[in-house]
Amino acid sequence: MFIQSFLLLLAIGFLSAGRVPRPEERIIGGQNIEIEQAPWQVSLQVNGEPHCGGSIYSKDIIITAAHCRFDKKKRRLEARDFLIRVGSSLWNSKGTLVKVAAIRSHENYNSTNLTKDIAVMRLSEPLNFTDKVKSIPLAERNPAPGTVAMVSGWGATSTYPKLSYPVHLQGVDVLILGVNQFFLFAGSYGQTSCFGDSGGPLVVDQQLVGVVSGVFEYCDGPTQFISVSDERSWLLNAIASIKL
Ligand SMILES: *[C@@H]1O[C@H](CO)[C@@H](O)[C@H](O)[C@H]1NC(C)=O
Ligand SMILES: *[C@@H]1O[C@H](CO)[C@@H](O)[C@H](O)[C@H]1NC(C)=O
Repeated sequence: MFIQSFLLLLAIGFLSAGRVPRPEERIIGGQNIEIEQAPWQVSLQVNGEPHCGGSIYSKDIIITAAHCRFDKKKRRLEARDFLIRVGSSLWNSKGTLVKVAAIRSHENYNSTNLTKDIAVMRLSEPLNFTDKVKSIPLAERNPAPGTVAMVSGWGATSTYPKLSYPVHLQGVDVLILGVNQFFLFAGSYGQTSCFGDSGGPLVVDQQLVGVVSGVFEYCDGPTQFISVSDERSWLLNAIASIKL
């Protein structure tokens, strides 16, 4: 208990740069972060609306969730339906909008239980890396329970009385709870991701450890992630094949 509280305090200090977060700064329980603090974060947009998050793996590869391939009416989206904004803290301006050339979702993705909820996208042109646009390496092992990780995105910051969405990128430090055969879990009541954060990064030590997949209906508990290290060989394979 003490160790976890101590880690949390450290984490909050780092994120807020000395500022004490207030309860209404509620991703859920997070705060504005600048894109330089998560330069691998991208915004996946459909019809000019923010749809999901994603992470830059290389100049032309984005990692996201397989369920981001579907719209609210469960219709399957094609590569041409997406625009990806890179290099901006704001989902709706600045940075660069890039088209998607191809998408590959995990063959065993299951839309009911969200197993294998992972996908890769190939961009139509290579990104130019800067302080605001950078790739993130794939973690090779799962972080131990109790590790502090950061999750970021433009997902809902509250669910009550209605879903409210930020224009500015949010980040929140969450504790890793553990992994099972299918998922990695992190976060808690009050510090977690929410609708719209899907596909986005869970990061430890500047490595991608998880992809946001599922949340509770009111975003009031841990987030379910796909473990990047558990899917490492699928990812490397998919990335190689989607480049062809
Ligand atoms: C998810 O669904 C698939 C297909 O129905 C099934 O094979 C798998 O065991 C399920 N996994 C979990 C964790 O429920
Ligand atoms: C990268 O820079 C080149 C040269 O300035 C430019 O033509 C191209 O559009 C840029 N690509 C992206 C994705 O920003």
